[in-house]
Amino acid sequence: MATGESSLQNITQEIKSRADIVSIVERYVKLRKSGKNYQGICPFHQEKTPSFIVSPDIQIYKCFGCGKGGDVFSFLQEIEGIDFVEARDKLADELGIKIEKGVKPKAISILEEINQIALDFFQEELNSKTGAHARGYLEGRKIRKESISKFGIGFAPGYNSLYKFITTKNRNKYRNAELLSSGLFVDKGSGIRDKFFNRIMFPIRSVGGAVIGFSGRVLPGNDYGPKYMNTPETAVFHKGETLFGIYESKNEIRKSGYCIMCEGQTDVISSHAAGVKNIVAPLGTGLTEKQISLLKNYTNDIVLMFDSDTAGISAVKRAFTLAAAQGMDVYAASPSPYKDIDEMIQKAPESYIELLKKKTDAFTYLLTKEIENKDLSDLEDYNQTRKFINILLSPIKEKQLYSFYSKKAEKITGINNQETLDPAKSVSRNFETKKDIKNHPDNREQYFLAIILKADFTKKLSKLKTSIFQDPLVKEVLNYLKQKPDIALKQLAETEDLSEDAVNLVKTLLLQSDIIMSGNVDTNKELNHIYLLIYRGYMDKRLSNLRTKLVIAENQEDTKSAEELVEKIKKLSNKIKNLKNDKIS
Ligand code: UTP
Ligand code: MN
Repeated sequence: MATGESSLQNITQEIKSRADIVSIVERYVKLRKSGKNYQGICPFHQEKTPSFIVSPDIQIYKCFGCGKGGDVFSFLQEIEGIDFVEARDKLADELGIKIEKGVKPKAISILEEINQIALDFFQEELNSKTGAHARGYLEGRKIRKESISKFGIGFAPGYNSLYKFITTKNRNKYRNAELLSSGLFVDKGSGIRDKFFNRIMFPIRSVGGAVIGFSGRVLPGNDYGPKYMNTPETAVFHKGETLFGIYESKNEIRKSGYCIMCEGQTDVISSHAAGVKNIVAPLGTGLTEKQISLLKNYTNDIVLMFDSDTAGISAVKRAFTLAAAQGMDVYAASPSPYKDIDEMIQKAPESYIELLKKKTDAFTYLLTKEIENKDLSDLEDYNQTRKFINILLSPIKEKQLYSFYSKKAEKITGINNQETLDPAKSVSRNFETKKDIKNHPDNREQYFLAIILKADFTKKLSKLKTSIFQDPLVKEVLNYLKQKPDIALKQLAETEDLSEDAVNLVKTLLLQSDIIMSGNVDTNKELNHIYLLIYRGYMDKRLSNLRTKLVIAENQEDTKSAEELVEKIKKLSNKIKNLKNDKIS
């Protein structure tokens, strides 16, 4: 008997509330108490000074060096290289919570079953009489027997053969609605039909190895549909969250310490056959954030091997910005003059290996290409390049990484973009040191919130005028805390009443509160001091607004308004002078 879906959810919740993240992390990482949190050397990247922080209050961890973070489940997944279900089962075991192993929601297991049956069928067909044509095609492309069985390549003849197979062989075990939900069939009004017709079928597997969908390539002579046709989105197949080859390559990715990202299925398969087995491909779309997160479970280094044409370059740009934003080290290389890795391996396998050795970082790769035909002593070209650098680097949150690329840019172009770029409002970049936060007016409000959170000052907020705050996220959190002064930090870090960005800010601040306020700071005093600075900033802004208005009024010879404004300015200036004595509480 399978456990129902709702009880599985309850079990996940129960594990979350009972497991202690600190003691679990401590099995792998030496932790030292630091204020409310624990700190240690990050197990997910090389570092000398500890930037890995675990919060017992909100039961999460975060590394401010490499950016990895999450809850007990993701920690175990990442460090043990297991999937969510395995992590859940492991924790349930330890906590003595009864759970049926590997249980998946029923609808999901049915879809995986149907896909598995299809896989067996397509493989059988490839080896049958009808598959001769398909076998010949694979042979012509130098896809070997071992590759065929390793990747489970098959052949879909069409003519409703899969439907007939699945309904006779399995004695109508599946309802038509279930078959349709697998994406392997269509019903255009005249009954249920096979979706894939006269195509080579490449199974797409989840990280755990289950077949969740297919990518079907047309065979010569089939003019129907696109060259590659994928399973549409289903409950188990999400194109933007899956990478072709991840199951077959994951161990080698971890072992080698990097992952190659290429354009298509045939590249992945040829690369494996050539002995390079740390390679994946997106499924015919631009790379997504979720695909990057998936990869980050195995490595922090990625090598992009896309075409060197315009489409390939923009694919590299997109992948670089996404992956670097998540703290990955991104490299790029181009298979040119060959069309793709597959062709390169067929024609010049040694140059593939050479190319991998020579990889440059993706930023240098892109910037060099960008300025190839530019004259940087020309103002327009200069400005375009400056903009190009800023756009590429702006999503990078990690301070060191950012500065690494900035220096690179300066070396290549002479442009120092540290000066030209607005200090990004990103919390993690600015919140590097205590000094940064306090002295940077951009961070003052977040610092204020950090003190409130660290020192449990939420009850002090009842009289706080949140209208003086400029940072919309800080304002959102403060307004919420005013209404819920008794909320537990853990609840606050999970609440759905706040925007995702606001919750993320809370988490970051909670995790960094000890770095922000180390030593013997009198939090009460500090809070008042910062509040005054914020208030003062707000008043100054109002004052400068009034002065602008005065100038306008004078220009328009509107003496009445001007006089009123002069009065207001006087009052406000006096108020600002007397500010020193104000207190928040
Ligand atoms: P390519 O056209 O470069 O394919 O598209 P390829 O891998 O070299 O294909 P072969 O060698 O002719 O068999 C690259 C990738 O883009 C996706 C596929 O994932 C393909 O591997 N694609 C391509 C589609 O999804 N649909 C298409 O119509 C074409
Ligand atoms: Mn190809």
